[in-house]
Amino acid sequence: MERLILDCDTGQDDAIAILMAHGAKNLAVEGIVAVAGNTTLENALENTLKLTEDIDFNVPVYTGSRGPLIRKQIVASAIHGESGYDGPVFTKKRIKKSCGNGIDFIINTIMQNPGEINLVATGPLTDIAIAIKKEPKIITSVKRLIIMGGSLSKGNVTPSAEFNIYADPEAAKIVFNCGIEIYMMGLDVTKQTIVSKDFMQKCIVKQKEKPSRSRQVFIDGMNFYIASCMKAIREAPSMHDPCCIAFLINPSLFSFEKHLIDVETKGELTYGETVDLGINENSNIHVGIKVDTKQFFELLFQSLQ
Ligand code: RIB
Ligand code: CA
Repeated sequence: MERLILDCDTGQDDAIAILMAHGAKNLAVEGIVAVAGNTTLENALENTLKLTEDIDFNVPVYTGSRGPLIRKQIVASAIHGESGYDGPVFTKKRIKKSCGNGIDFIINTIMQNPGEINLVATGPLTDIAIAIKKEPKIITSVKRLIIMGGSLSKGNVTPSAEFNIYADPEAAKIVFNCGIEIYMMGLDVTKQTIVSKDFMQKCIVKQKEKPSRSRQVFIDGMNFYIASCMKAIREAPSMHDPCCIAFLINPSLFSFEKHLIDVETKGELTYGETVDLGINENSNIHVGIKVDTKQFFELLFQSLQ
């Protein structure tokens, strides 16, 4: 059983990561922390509370950071919509509330369970950087940090930067330089999980045969996400954040290389780039290089049952 904390800025693909974690028999989610990222903190928290309540996922939700450490906040409403998670309709009145401070929750959970907790970050790294600064012992007490962020090649928000890193480069620099064991799911690997029309059709057919609330939420979110990505970036969306959860469910789907990576925080054109300083077997940064795409989508399909 893999125990984990998910720190996320709940938009469409963060939500799919939550659906996958909920459906996985070998994962135990200790808590979810909502952080400002592709939307405001209020929206990210609201989306997380509503989603987990709607799918009967009995997991505590905590409040993370309101915005990046230094830079001005950016959001991605062209991709995720005004609410940060447009698409699914949650009709139930929300009862669930935040359980409190997410950074203290991260620190306390890791320190009380040394070597046991996987920390998964699918938004900007603000909370993780603050937690590291507040209690540096988490660097050696966490089992591993799995992040969706960065790229060895091109970016997706600027020519050189990926969104989650660009949204808080100063936080990312702290995290990448602190020595923590990082599994980096960057665009190099996540772009191998572009959703196909056939996969969506398979989900729609299955939903008619054997309805599940998780699958319906997935389909409704994807309808919005596909349309917004086609409009904004002229391609179907990748399952960026779900790659982190798929790795925890079945690590053998992914292959990695150890690289030295630093984060650019000064460059006018390269702000937020994860700069590849080369392969180095002594590095603590495992960069996702390849995923078995067929098996990844099989796992996603199974998780939605
Ligand atoms: O670049 C992809 C990342 O930014 C994902 O975490 C996704 O949720 C988006 O906002
Ligand atoms: Ca995200």
